[in-house]
Amino acid sequence: MKRLNVVLAGLGFGAAFAPIYARHPDVGAFGIYDPDIDLAKAAAARLQGAKIYENFTGVLNDPSVDAVHLVSPIPRHAEQTQAVLGAGKHCACTVPMAMNLEDLKAICAAVKKTGKSYCVMETAVYTTHFFKVKEMLHRGEFGRIQFLRGAHYQDMEFWPDYWRGLPPMWYGTHPIAPLVMLAGSPVVRVRGLGSGTMREELRGQYGNPFPVETAQLEFANGLTGEVTRSLFETAHDYTEQFTLYGSKKTFEWQQVETELPVLHTLEAPRRDEGGRPMRGLPVTAERVQTGNYHTLLPEAVRRFTVKTEDYDETNPQLSLEKDASGGHGGSHPHMVHEFVRSVLENRAPWINERNGANIAAAGIAAHDSAMKDGAVADVPDFAF
Ligand SMILES: NC(=O)c1ccc[n+]([C@@H]2O[C@H](COP(=O)([O-])OP(=O)(O)OC[C@H]3O[C@@H](n4cnc5c(N)ncnc54)[C@H](O)[C@@H]3O)[C@@H](O)[C@H]2O)c1
Repeated sequence: MKRLNVVLAGLGFGAAFAPIYARHPDVGAFGIYDPDIDLAKAAAARLQGAKIYENFTGVLNDPSVDAVHLVSPIPRHAEQTQAVLGAGKHCACTVPMAMNLEDLKAICAAVKKTGKSYCVMETAVYTTHFFKVKEMLHRGEFGRIQFLRGAHYQDMEFWPDYWRGLPPMWYGTHPIAPLVMLAGSPVVRVRGLGSGTMREELRGQYGNPFPVETAQLEFANGLTGEVTRSLFETAHDYTEQFTLYGSKKTFEWQQVETELPVLHTLEAPRRDEGGRPMRGLPVTAERVQTGNYHTLLPEAVRRFTVKTEDYDETNPQLSLEKDASGGHGGSHPHMVHEFVRSVLENRAPWINERNGANIAAAGIAAHDSAMKDGAVADVPDFAF
């Protein structure tokens, strides 16, 4: 089968993906682009045979390029995605997909028109935590899903200018995506609220006064969830987390990244001496390892599920225990693999323009709602 020729564009966070593409067995020619040419040269020096593109038009005009993975600044995502698709190439893009509903609709239309593939590189649904919960869910271990909760706390002080004062829910995808994919149902309505006070100089760029936003999500299948997102002036360890509350078991993400998640299990009733059930079912709570899901990947890229220097070929599970946080919960090689394989297998990627647009739109609608004191906002149907 043909191998895919890929260009990686944007080498800040994006640089983490370069060695994965360079080693992936289904990738043929591999190229890199960043307007900061020194960054591109430094990345190329660490790789063998990566072609450097000096401008983005050169990437678009190169007929040998099959696919482009964008890891550029957020305000560039929508226009560059449409340019890549319009040039007849498959496109993967880091989150968020876009910053407004019109751009989400335009990307969906461009995918339809060009017939090319679009893949959202949403780290939060390729983590070892997510794989474990998905597996338990399919085995029926949680019973019925009763509620879902997600959060993402990150401080963006001194990051590039486009982050300054960003509405938290515009980048709400890390807590929203796992909820949507576990509910197995799109978000149809949201109610958002903003909270706290943010210093004046951060409010100008996007007219957003809130350092923290929270939202209630209603899914089409009747489930509900809640998400919280902070970006500025809020003291919390960096965490991206989700919790699934089930009728039999609950998986609860840990408060800080260095801990393990907690599995709560509802036990059989205790009985008194007369054999009568005592009030309230007992619950056991235990810290659990998620395990590494490296075997879902080709051997050559398994090491990227943890920091490469920590990877132990003979015991990948042990590597994970040494470094649970390698590459956003081990997600990076899984996303690359899904993008590459979905194109070669001529199928839609798992997180594609339709469910990806729903996830991004839920965050955009939540911020709109927060700006209107929590007025209920409908989330458009992207044919999930
Ligand atoms: N967990 C995640 O999914 C995750 C984590 C970090 C960052 N991100 C996303 O990745 C993107 C990049 O993050 P970052 O921290 O590297 O940002 P950054 O702004 O620090 O760096 C972006 C890089 O892209 C380059 N660049 C600028 N304009 C470009 C263009 N038009 N085309 C290609 N490259 C361009 C810059 O020179 C720079 O090297 C952001 O959109 C962010 O939202 C996602």
